[in-house]
Amino acid sequence: MKIVLAYSGGLDTSIILKMMQEKMNAEVITVTVDVGQKDDFEKIEEKALKLGALKHYTIDAKAEFVEKYIFKAIKANALYEGSYPLATALARPLIAEKIIEVAKKENADAVAHGCTGKGNDQVRFDLAIKALYPEIKIIAPVRELNLTRDWEMEYAKKNGIPVKDKIYSIDENLWGRSVEGGILEDPFEEPPEEVFEWTLSPEKTPEKPEYLTIDFVNGVPIGLDGKKMNPVELVETLNFIAGKHGVGRIDHIEDRAVGIKSREVYEAPAAITLIKAHKDLEKLILTKWVLEFKEIVDSKWAWLIYNGLWFEPLREALDAFIDEVETNITGSVKVKFYKGSISIVGRSSENALYDTKLATYEKFSTFDQRLAVGFIELFGLQSVLAYSTKHKINSL
Ligand code: ARG
Ligand code: SIN
Repeated sequence: MKIVLAYSGGLDTSIILKMMQEKMNAEVITVTVDVGQKDDFEKIEEKALKLGALKHYTIDAKAEFVEKYIFKAIKANALYEGSYPLATALARPLIAEKIIEVAKKENADAVAHGCTGKGNDQVRFDLAIKALYPEIKIIAPVRELNLTRDWEMEYAKKNGIPVKDKIYSIDENLWGRSVEGGILEDPFEEPPEEVFEWTLSPEKTPEKPEYLTIDFVNGVPIGLDGKKMNPVELVETLNFIAGKHGVGRIDHIEDRAVGIKSREVYEAPAAITLIKAHKDLEKLILTKWVLEFKEIVDSKWAWLIYNGLWFEPLREALDAFIDEVETNITGSVKVKFYKGSISIVGRSSENALYDTKLATYEKFSTFDQRLAVGFIELFGLQSVLAYSTKHKINSL
């Protein structure tokens, strides 16, 4: 039996790699997809081959991740339950796609992943794999055998699998870092400094604020401070700058697809910055009706991605709406980073509906205030009537 394993180099997938050879007599091909996690891919390959992998693939999917997934998330202001920018969730369908490409090329009988049966990642992987390659068998040993961390550590030691004492479960890519487990499982405990790697604590950030202008075209960022940048570089740069100012820490009690509530800690400096800036620019440009409706679309979009429904037609239909709306979202947003906070301090666009001549209280105003009286009369007609009827207020 030939199995293609989504291999991260971590504890779970290393154990699976060994177990599938031992218990199933399988030939295992490992694939590591580079979505911007800060790993040493040569070491991961070495480890895979040492643990018996027949062959190893490292696939650089960073550009694709930003252009086909992250950009969509920015246009949708995607935050699950208002907080989580979906880093892990967004990368799963892309990783699944790459695994399937290898499985087809290698004529494999099955694909395997290291997800537990308690989380969201299994839902995302399984649904993506089933959509892309319905015939392929899915093997998820941690879930199938109900493996626990203690058992895994024991197995690793017995089988010469190198492990560091692993406290947290960490997943990382260009759009953010997700950390769970250890002391974080107590939701009353403040996350210890050691869980953060991309962001400084506000106590340690620079004493001076830093300003940056983000340029958007059609809803996606194209450059910083007037300088064009390639998408991967732009996200990496923002992770660095915003992270240095302590922006992007998220401590979130979250509802998983399977119903479990979990405490998650995230670092997402670029995501928080870009979504905040993008949303602000939308407010300058879109009509109040589009803005109001888009909130509903955006939150449904985030819900679909979180729950592993990337391939659901509703996602594509929502994207069609979003793409139409975003054709107008071109302009610049000025942000200010300071001591763990990000503020939007300026915005401009040639498509702005904001008009100083209408908004001003100065004498160059073009708005005829007298028109407001008739508007108010009709606007509140029913409400005023209902109130006076209910409270028996008779006009004499
Ligand atoms: N709760 C987050 C999500 O569902 C993060 C999952 C992190 N995954 C991991 N293998 N550590 O997207
Ligand atoms: C896992 O269960 O494999 C990680 C956590 C999650 O998927 O939510």
